[in-house]
Amino acid sequence: MPLAPYFSRYWDAPESWTLQTYLADDGYVGLQNALATEPDTVISTVLDAGLRGRGGAGFPTGRKWSFIPQKPEPDGTMKPHYLVVNADESEPGTCKDMPLMLATPHVLIEGIVIAAYAIRASHAFIYLRGEVVPVLRRLQAAVAEAYEAGYLGRDILGSGFNLDVVVHAGAGAYICGEETALLDSLEGRRGQPRLRPPFPAVAGLYACPTVVNNVESIATVPSILLNGPEWFRSMGSEKSPGFTLYSLSGHVTRPGQYEAPLGITLRELLEYAGGIREGHTLKFWTPGGSSTPILTDAQLDMPLDYEGVAAEGSMLGTKALQIFDDTTCVVRAVLRWSEFYAHESCGKCTPCREGTFWLVQIMRRLEDGTATENDLDRLLDISDNIVGKSFCALGDAAGTPIISSIALFRDEYLAHIPDGCPFDHSRSTIFARTEEVAR
Ligand SMILES: Cc1cc2nc3c(=O)[nH]c(=O)nc-3n(C[C@H](O)[C@H](O)[C@H](O)COP(=O)(O)O)c2cc1C
Ligand code: SF4
Repeated sequence: MPLAPYFSRYWDAPESWTLQTYLADDGYVGLQNALATEPDTVISTVLDAGLRGRGGAGFPTGRKWSFIPQKPEPDGTMKPHYLVVNADESEPGTCKDMPLMLATPHVLIEGIVIAAYAIRASHAFIYLRGEVVPVLRRLQAAVAEAYEAGYLGRDILGSGFNLDVVVHAGAGAYICGEETALLDSLEGRRGQPRLRPPFPAVAGLYACPTVVNNVESIATVPSILLNGPEWFRSMGSEKSPGFTLYSLSGHVTRPGQYEAPLGITLRELLEYAGGIREGHTLKFWTPGGSSTPILTDAQLDMPLDYEGVAAEGSMLGTKALQIFDDTTCVVRAVLRWSEFYAHESCGKCTPCREGTFWLVQIMRRLEDGTATENDLDRLLDISDNIVGKSFCALGDAAGTPIISSIALFRDEYLAHIPDGCPFDHSRSTIFARTEEVAR
């Protein structure tokens, strides 16, 4: 299957992030098309295209927009509507939104104006993970450029539509990527998930109707308004149409972003990426970040779309394909993820707060040679008490790598008992680098 460079077609241009570069290649034409129609027509165009949210769950973007109530309150007043772009991107392995914003911030801004027009919002926020200062600066500069050129502010392109955009830097917490924790954080509170219902479409930011969408979801919208839903549907499958960014990392010859139609396989992507690093073989991989069940070479020909990956018992998630070769100890990789989830657990609910702590203790015992065979059952028991029983999906994410890795590599877990990790970690570039950074 050929690649489908859409965002990445700008990336080799000199100063790809400037308005001038963006305008030279159909930039803001999709917005002109949108402003020439009614907001509801924009929603139905995105619905017809079948765009599914790129933040992990694959919820249809047009349907999410259509949930925003358009009727006045019983007292005749109309609450303001908000658009919030989720640019928190903190999941291990997930690394598509940051390069997209760094290289082509205007495609996101154009998408924001179109989406805000569709849902009748006059304020939009980009909630960015705070540590990525270069992206923050680039977004701020692009927003200023867009105001200056009349793509933001009052009476955009003479349409009478007004929109203000605020770039907000978070303080760096994985849980603030969960949409309701993000809204709490944006309102100035500690970021913890909210009880639903009410859903953000009814009572989101400042208790007003709010759409929260991922960066890539919103950045894909201009292409649909420019080329039409049929063009978008000409790629991918009926239920997973369009193109997307696949992020290959780990033991691969040329790691990076590969933009392709949904449904491409890992075998094909590895061919583009030069294969597994020389002299080694694929051991396991994640299709969509650390929270998606791991897979092996048995799934090399599985279509990387929402249905294809679900049929194999995993999830497409954020399409963060982390590749691990034969030098990797699966127990050690899962321990690293477990430490991440324990650190990022917000502490609001007991199964996740307590469970993630105990998972780490037991995984460490396996690595240092103090575990017993009962510990495998204990890991599965604790995971079972977290997955599906926690307040938000971070809990599910913490149990998933443990359950899937024990199912696939039980013998390797057993090989850690009683003497600890049998792997020579000096051969693994991934862990060597992690330890260097930790020092
Ligand atoms: C712990 C946790 C972290 C999340 N982090 C992100 C994130 O960084 N970016 C993102 O877009 N969605 C993230 N999500 C998913 C969001 O809650 C939400 O579903 C998404 O922003 C919706 O966007 P979409 O419909 O465009 O996919 C996270 C969810 C959870 C449970
Ligand atoms: S599952 Fe974890 S992150 Fe989510 S609310 Fe509970 S403690 Fe917080």
